[in-house]
Amino acid sequence: MSTFTVHFPAEPDCPPVTLPLGSRLSEHLTASNSPLLFGCRTGLCATCLVIAEGEVEPMNEDEREIVEIWAEDDPRARLACQLVCTGDVRLTPHPEAP
Ligand code: FES
Repeated sequence: MSTFTVHFPAEPDCPPVTLPLGSRLSEHLTASNSPLLFGCRTGLCATCLVIAEGEVEPMNEDEREIVEIWAEDDPRARLACQLVCTGDVRLTPHPEAP
């Protein structure tokens, strides 16, 4: 099975997480394996707003609508709970997250 790795560059003490390719992060990242905060996990609250660098599927219109409210001018901004990765990714909490 192919995998990808999630890195947390803002938290050097947090080890990377390796997941099956195509996984939705919201189904695997928790407080015990990730420094990211999640709220609704359904793409509505923006608690999980991150700077995503790496290989991720494009956002859909529902995610885009929320991201543009909080980080309109940042093309790297994504909702971690909505991310599906196609390769390794680096996630940093976004400074505009609520
Ligand atoms: S946890 Fe609410 S939008 Fe991601």
